[in-house]
Amino acid sequence: MPDIRFSITDREGETSTIAMGAGDRVKVRITTLSDNTAGRGDFLAEWGLSILVETEDINVLLDTGMRICSSYNADVLGIDLRKVDRIVLSHGHVDHTGGLRNILRRMRKEIEIIAHPDIWAAKYGRRQGYPEQYIGVPYQRCELESLGAIFNLTTEPVRITDTVMTTGEIPMVTDFEEIDAGLFVREDAGWRPDKILDDQALIINSERGLVVVLGCAHRGIINTLYHARQLTGTEKIYLVLGGAHLMNASEDQLRQTIAALRELNIERLGLCHCTDLPATSVIAYEFGESFFFNKAGTGIDLT
Ligand SMILES: [Fe+2]
Ligand SMILES: [Fe+2]
Repeated sequence: MPDIRFSITDREGETSTIAMGAGDRVKVRITTLSDNTAGRGDFLAEWGLSILVETEDINVLLDTGMRICSSYNADVLGIDLRKVDRIVLSHGHVDHTGGLRNILRRMRKEIEIIAHPDIWAAKYGRRQGYPEQYIGVPYQRCELESLGAIFNLTTEPVRITDTVMTTGEIPMVTDFEEIDAGLFVREDAGWRPDKILDDQALIINSERGLVVVLGCAHRGIINTLYHARQLTGTEKIYLVLGGAHLMNASEDQLRQTIAALRELNIERLGLCHCTDLPATSVIAYEFGESFFFNKAGTGIDLT
């Protein structure tokens, strides 16, 4: 583990557009609407994540944050959420689904929501040793449907366009990533550990390589990236951003994660949310200029 002795510099560009070069066949703009931290400006922060991906063909919203930040920050940025064509939910936790009702009210239209059926499991988190805090979707399905939601629930990857797809269920293949032991599902028979089978990410296949937008990466950031490569048949991963769920990672897991990220030779890495600040700091130090902190308000252009 490296000693962190560098001084934090003010990298103002993080809160404006990060241009990533010319020549892509697919023009992509990625805007983080909700995160645990907010960039410079009038943005709000919350424990949550919501990322808007705009391509020439389709606009996809991955997750909706915890409460109002995604729609509030969209207003700050002048983004009309009615232009969203699909919503993808990375999993059922409230910090990714809590903004859904507000966003549907704003959209005022029918919209397909792609997610795994397990988003509707009764998800709980451990608090003071007991799995007693409900952390699942905070709405009834019928309420969301009355607001225009059309759920497309599947365990499989969904090819949204030729270049945009979901991962579907993510196989656990590395020996250093495991599911957070503090997560449970309540069933009639009692508690069972939540394997978060609903965890998934969004993939954009650009000519520079894959762009992988993570929700929480509960099944492991490296498992997710390996799966993205396998699904698309594309080795090169150009950009990864979102939550990497390294908040409870051991030093050993963090070290192995960094080694695997290096081996994957990712060009830009914008972690945030449940990566949490200690792991984010180490990764930022390790990856230097390749790393950016993906706060609410960050915009990325692949043009
Ligand atoms: Fe989560
Ligand atoms: Fe999360």
